[in-house]
Amino acid sequence: MTDDHLDLSSRNNKYLQLFMWFSDHFEELAGQFDVILIDTHNDESLVTANFIAVSDLVLGVTDASTNGFRAWLSLKRFVQSIKDEAIEVVTRKSYVTATPYLIGNKIEYYGHNVTDTCKQFLEVVQEDPYYLGSVQKKELMAKSLVLNQNVFEQKKQMTEQQKKAHRNFYANIESVYESILKVLEGS
Ligand SMILES: Nc1ncnc2c1ncn2[C@@H]1O[C@H](COP(=O)(O)OP(=O)(O)OP(=O)(O)O)[C@@H](O)[C@H]1O
Ligand SMILES: [Mg+2]
Repeated sequence: MTDDHLDLSSRNNKYLQLFMWFSDHFEELAGQFDVILIDTHNDESLVTANFIAVSDLVLGVTDASTNGFRAWLSLKRFVQSIKDEAIEVVTRKSYVTATPYLIGNKIEYYGHNVTDTCKQFLEVVQEDPYYLGSVQKKELMAKSLVLNQNVFEQKKQMTEQQKKAHRNFYANIESVYESILKVLEGS
């Protein structure tokens, strides 16, 4: 499906259509939700731009590959271009305050070590101040879609021994989520 039929591009403030709706309904939304999570396509469509324009935080999730890293650089450029377009005429300040952050995904381990490609990826992204952490490649993650149960729901059904076997995975993913929450609360 494309977003052509929405005819967003012919309007003024094409990146700010959802932003205006959010402004009109801000009280209602704030009363109902602590956090609004929007799962977009990984694209540069007008719909995605509208979602980014209302966001405090944009999370780029990438696997440990060159393409994934390029996608992160493109995301940063895309967010900046939306900011540059959505400027208040008098003050020249942007309405858009979204900050892009990076999460690595599907990091592969053998024993206690990560694979060479993942190691190279981690060495590069760890230098980036907007890198928030990485998630391991895990069957539990793949299974969550099939079972329609997130990894924390799956944990509740585990034996103590299974919990112990996955302890590092859970400790890590919790700390990644805490990092996300921390920047969100700071924004
Ligand atoms: N950490 C992980 N370990 C193992 N499998 C994973 C992990 N993360 C994602 N997957 C699997 O990779 C596939 C794609 O994941 P997901 O749907 O989150 O990607 P996406 O980029 O959002 O895709 P789409 O563009 O279709 O929305 C899924 O089958 C998912 O189970
Ligand atoms: Mg998706």
